[in-house]
Amino acid sequence: MRIAIVQSFPIHADTNTNCHAILNRIQSTNADMIIFPELATSGYFFTDKDLLAIHALKWKEAEFLQQVQDLASEKDTIIILGFPEQDGEAFYNSAGIFMPNANDSQVYRKTHLFYKEHTVFTEGDTGFFCVHDAKNDCTIGIMICYDWRFPEAARTLALQGADIIVCPSNLVTTLSGKVFPARAIENKVYVAVANRVGEEILGDETLLFRGESAIYDYTGERLAQASFGNEEIIYAEIDPIATRNKAFNSVNDIFNDRRPDMYG
Ligand code: ACM
Repeated sequence: MRIAIVQSFPIHADTNTNCHAILNRIQSTNADMIIFPELATSGYFFTDKDLLAIHALKWKEAEFLQQVQDLASEKDTIIILGFPEQDGEAFYNSAGIFMPNANDSQVYRKTHLFYKEHTVFTEGDTGFFCVHDAKNDCTIGIMICYDWRFPEAARTLALQGADIIVCPSNLVTTLSGKVFPARAIENKVYVAVANRVGEEILGDETLLFRGESAIYDYTGERLAQASFGNEEIIYAEIDPIATRNKAFNSVNDIFNDRRPDMYG
């Protein structure tokens, strides 16, 4: 199964330009799964709900999201993409998982909000879940960026059967680079982190997004890594079935050996 990460530079509050670039990227990328960063349609740093409202998209209604779905179906590929979602009065930091069959597509709403996201977004209410891709026999779990700080996120997805955890991101520290391989090892899953590049300035604050998107195998080895600061696409081949035997010797199995009764 061939995975692609599109490391992009979304232009803040220029949804038309960003969406156009995303559709072009999908058209020209050949992979079984194409992953874009968090808030790839809008840019990241919003503290004004009125401005965010202009750029928020309604799941199953926005024309752009329908175009992404059509491409997922036409290309027979999975597309994962972060966007600001509007549902009634609420805004969520969401990621769409567009499956070739539109009935299987789902939206994940970021569980753990980071920093000033709290000023405009509502905490996600979808919880952590996986989708199954029958063609590649791959179970895909999803989380978004700051969710990485909570080992429960990856563990929950792994216990649900994830073979790969995908993490659309707008990372602002390098610490996560130490943590993602650990999540891969302790859960024996692949991890794909799609980060963005560029800077965003709001008032006297500047956020720098480094890129360095990466795909890790289930031993924590990096299969592919993007550069610092450049837009690019990275690829890796994964073998989803190889994650399923959680034993690492004749006695120990990282799932069967868990002692949840000791964790209270
Ligand atoms: C983040 O959650 N975008 C740091």
